[in-house]
Amino acid sequence: MSLTRRQFLWTTAASAVLWPDIGSAGALRAQAPAPGDALFQHGVASGDPLSDRVMLWTRVTPQGGQPVEVQWRIAGDETLTQVVASGTARASADRDFTVKVDAGGLQPARTYYYGFEAAGQRSVVGRTRTLPDAFVDRLRIAVLSCANYPAGYFNVYRCVASRADLDLVLHLGDYIYEFENGVYGDGSGLLRIPQPPRETVSLTDYRVRYATYRADPDLQAVHQQHPFIAVWDDHELTNDAWRGGAANHNPGEGDWPTRRAAAYRAYLEWMPIREARTTDVRLYRDFRFGTLADIVMLDTRGLRDRQVPGDDIEGLNDPARSLLGAPQESWLFDRLRTSQQDGTVWRLLGQQIMFSRVAPPGVPVPLADLWDGYQASRERVLERLASDKITDLAILAGDLHSSWASEVPRTWDGPPIAVEFVTPAVSSPPLFANPQVRAGMPALRARLPHVKYVEGDGNGYLLLDITRARLRGDWFHVPGVLERSAAEARVAGFVCERGSARLAQA
Ligand SMILES: [Fe+2]
Repeated sequence: MSLTRRQFLWTTAASAVLWPDIGSAGALRAQAPAPGDALFQHGVASGDPLSDRVMLWTRVTPQGGQPVEVQWRIAGDETLTQVVASGTARASADRDFTVKVDAGGLQPARTYYYGFEAAGQRSVVGRTRTLPDAFVDRLRIAVLSCANYPAGYFNVYRCVASRADLDLVLHLGDYIYEFENGVYGDGSGLLRIPQPPRETVSLTDYRVRYATYRADPDLQAVHQQHPFIAVWDDHELTNDAWRGGAANHNPGEGDWPTRRAAAYRAYLEWMPIREARTTDVRLYRDFRFGTLADIVMLDTRGLRDRQVPGDDIEGLNDPARSLLGAPQESWLFDRLRTSQQDGTVWRLLGQQIMFSRVAPPGVPVPLADLWDGYQASRERVLERLASDKITDLAILAGDLHSSWASEVPRTWDGPPIAVEFVTPAVSSPPLFANPQVRAGMPALRARLPHVKYVEGDGNGYLLLDITRARLRGDWFHVPGVLERSAAEARVAGFVCERGSARLAQA
């Protein structure tokens, strides 16, 4: 079945009730929940914007198992009448009825609106934005990580969805958690029990888990409003994953390559990510925001060697252990060098785990799953930043369920050559929920002069505001996650002037 443009417009009027109103600041008003028999129950999403194209995503919930033909369109206006590109896609069981379209022919630095239609039903309208391809003097990004469904409401997603001042959202992983309900957060009280209720192991498990998360109205809202650039961390697979296994994987759960392939496949089906045309899974990729910033996204999870204990000093420094794997590492060095040579003002490293040192060289580290646990890899990066004279680099991290601002020195007590911002969790329990970590933090901080800010009680997000003169990070926290709310408060801000690699309180 293929609808003509005229039929499409006719259905627009006929099913106007399904279309959202437009809010005052150009934001789309949040949609009403989809009825149980609706085809589009998981909303829409966009991602991996370039200056001429963007990925569009939706999922169909068919009544039977037959493939469904889906029309898509992207337009310059929110009623989807000034159509710029359109087409047809097929939703079928082999991709869990998800639909992904690489919509091209777009203009740079523009806001677009998009929607899907199938069998006379329409999705909500999503809003997205292309990247600039030339001079630009401003970039605003919300940085997110660690959304644990049973632990609480996605109030942070609601807050970010409400912002009308963002170019895009970076999601640094733990978009889902794999655990059985009750193992890490019990959703019984809030009626937020993730499906399946057991730990996710099979392809079906992971798909059903994504469907639970994407049925959440606040997660749907943030996808509807902003394009995402996302990478996975460990919980899209399982806790403390590395390339050959994971702490939370045992032989009774089958072989690791099968589980990893299932987890990756479901992730790529459900996320608006432009998939690399390679036989290996390659998540690392980069984005050019005009002449203002290059955004380099890393996979510090899926390609790494195995973790060693935090007191295994020799193992921590073993140059044969790699966090990135050799191909990604040389790709990173090449991207940074090229960005610097091109005269791009800022370099942003979007990645999962904290880069900054939490212990001096030769001393046991408290968390060996971070860059601290791969010190030879970190040394190679720092060495290359210095030898290639890479400047104006901001490293972004999630994973730690806390808010950090740090200067990054080349050596333990040397001058800084980069800065790092860590974004807190959307709803996972904050770092200081562990009383031992809270109690130990003052003593730890006293040994870390390069760390300028640590807050371990809040859920929230990091807002990056970037101009040609300075890069600024502000942390916004929510009052809690146990009641649904759109409240937020700015709790801290730090500025890095271009050329300084130093942080000053804003
Ligand atoms: Fe997490």
